[in-house]
Amino acid sequence: MQDFRDRKRRGEPVTALTAYDYPTARLLDESGIDVILVGDSVGMVVLGYEDTTSVTLEDMLHHTRAAARGVKRALLVADLPIHTYDDPTAAVATARRLIEAGAHAVKLEGGVRHVSEIEAIIAEGIPVMGHIGMLPQSVREEGGYKVKGRTPAEAHALIQDGLAVEKAGVFAVVLEIVNPEAARQITAALKIPTIGIGSGDHCDGQILVTHDLIGLFPWFTPKFVSPEAKVSEEIRRAVRAFIERTRSI
Ligand code: KIV
Repeated sequence: MQDFRDRKRRGEPVTALTAYDYPTARLLDESGIDVILVGDSVGMVVLGYEDTTSVTLEDMLHHTRAAARGVKRALLVADLPIHTYDDPTAAVATARRLIEAGAHAVKLEGGVRHVSEIEAIIAEGIPVMGHIGMLPQSVREEGGYKVKGRTPAEAHALIQDGLAVEKAGVFAVVLEIVNPEAARQITAALKIPTIGIGSGDHCDGQILVTHDLIGLFPWFTPKFVSPEAKVSEEIRRAVRAFIERTRSI
């Protein structure tokens, strides 16, 4: 995990994408991605839920096992789902199960308020990735996916969150939908890499939901994503071709 700090010192960006199954994890791994996240975004882009709050630990274990079979060289990180890390004992138990399922590290949402859970997991020898800014597991309380760190007070609170999780021992931290100037300030304040999603170009790396990057979830694409492919259109084209071919036999 020291490698992540070294990379930041050398100015080498960290690349990260999500995968929830064997073929996607294997394709990402073979393509040279640094980090593969079995994110609880699986709830939306694979399981068809409205948000991540219905994702269970059993869901995460199932998808982590599948993704782990496809990974040879990337770092495989798995998300702790909502309400599975409400206290340090629960956090350690959940993290252990995800590691047994094949993850190399775990990620959890929250800054200052989750320091004791992060410390407890790391004390067990399990590496932790932090996640601050917009926290999808709190989307219902927040009333939507809103930009964080717009005001000086909010930016200051995010820097405190970043410093707190760094002190607790995380090896990197995701900044989700953070105002780009606040993301720049957090990145400058930390020794660990910041990995941005919808947080501008001044982070030490970038992460995306793979379905958004490759156009595999055409019903919704976040504003900050520039898709590199239109895989859903290819699927529709192939299915129509198959239907046509079969009906004309
Ligand atoms: O669940 C997920 O995919 C995530 C990323 C958006 C960072 O947490």
